[in-house]
Amino acid sequence: MAMKGLRIRSYDEQMDRGGVIELERRCSVGPSDRVFHLFTDTLGDPIARIRNSPLFKMLVAELENELVGVIQGSIKTVTIQKASKDLSKVGYISGLRVSPLHRRKGIGMSLVNHLEQWFIDNQVNFAYMATEIDNEASVKLFVNKLGYMHFRTPAILINPVYQQSCHISTDVKIRKLRTEEAEYLYRNYICSADFFPSDIDKILQNKLSLGTWVAYDCADQSQTLFGQNGQVPNNWAMLSIWNSGKVFKLRIGKVPLSWFLYSKGFGLVDKVFPCFKMPALADFLDPFGFYFVYGLYCDGPQSGRLVQALFRFVHNMAAANSMDECKAIVTEVGGYDTWRLHIPHWKLLSCPEDLWCIKALKPEERNTIQEFTKTQPTSKTTKPLFVDPRDI
Ligand SMILES: CC(C)(COP(=O)(O)OP(=O)(O)OC[C@H]1O[C@@H](n2cnc3c(N)ncnc32)[C@H](O)[C@@H]1OP(=O)(O)O)[C@@H](O)C(=O)NCCC(=O)NCCS
Repeated sequence: MAMKGLRIRSYDEQMDRGGVIELERRCSVGPSDRVFHLFTDTLGDPIARIRNSPLFKMLVAELENELVGVIQGSIKTVTIQKASKDLSKVGYISGLRVSPLHRRKGIGMSLVNHLEQWFIDNQVNFAYMATEIDNEASVKLFVNKLGYMHFRTPAILINPVYQQSCHISTDVKIRKLRTEEAEYLYRNYICSADFFPSDIDKILQNKLSLGTWVAYDCADQSQTLFGQNGQVPNNWAMLSIWNSGKVFKLRIGKVPLSWFLYSKGFGLVDKVFPCFKMPALADFLDPFGFYFVYGLYCDGPQSGRLVQALFRFVHNMAAANSMDECKAIVTEVGGYDTWRLHIPHWKLLSCPEDLWCIKALKPEERNTIQEFTKTQPTSKTTKPLFVDPRDI
């Protein structure tokens, strides 16, 4: 039942900007007992994270004229293989925050209910969201109370940017693709991945998308025909980069003693091996930008090392572009994507299990959800997942 005096309404930039920024500042994401607290800084534009989606909405919760909660939603069309149609409209829920002083009063649930209604009004087939597996409040709210079903557990892999460049083998050729070439490859090789967006061209053309690169062996003669007439090298890999730091920054809050000592250890490494230049923990206490790697794909028995070379290339690009203040390379990969093994990352910063949950908003899609969730995911049964950089 709706709480007395609670009002859910659309975000008004002029009226609510300050209140939402203040709320974001006070709300860390995830469980309160975690090793470190992660905060987001939306650089003065709270709606910036969803602005790049085809259709978006932000709602705020007001209690006696005080802004006590916020939620964001975006709608797009994607591939969902098991759905009633090949293309489905999906609504993504993000940025749910309730003021710590007003939790457990039903405000979070009310915000989600209102956003779901907006999805339904816009003919959305499925609502979905992602949360860390150990965020008890969020998991209980969505799964236990609101009927969302867990369907995937990809990993968020984070690697810090070192001052030193990473070595890339001279046997590997890395080439930037033109946007049309990238679109061609994505539509031909990844279009069957779950959540592949129908407007991939818009993502690739977006100013936050820094480009798409392919890697292949220099010795491979077929490389000159790359992507044309359906020809690709025997081993190849591809990825695109999204400059997330231009939309929002991350910051680590509370730091426990163990982390402090860990950081001190790195300080020692720096002194002994000055050329190594490990990032210091202090670098993550100030707001930092990051590159999000999306649309990762590889093919061929030897393509793992090409994935690794591409990630080294992204790292070197981040290290060289000091203007982007990019201190981390972030990507999200399905638990069964074999190329995950070749992606450099720091376990301490990464999230091994990001829980993706889904709910059918149309009765005819309920079977789809059952299909999604009935089989235990394995490398054979699980389709690759496309993680849209606009959802990050
Ligand atoms: C997650 C969050 C939005 C929940 O907001 P809220 O207004 O307190 O949630 P509600 O009062 O609507 O809770 C509804 C149900 O969710 C579950 N729930 C909410 N918070 C919970 C908690 N801390 N522990 C266990 N269950 C919880 C309960 O089942 C609750 O029903 P109940 O109170 O009848 O038992 C809030 O804790 C928050 O802002 N957290 C920090 C930001 C964050 O992690 N956001 C989620 C990102 S996906």
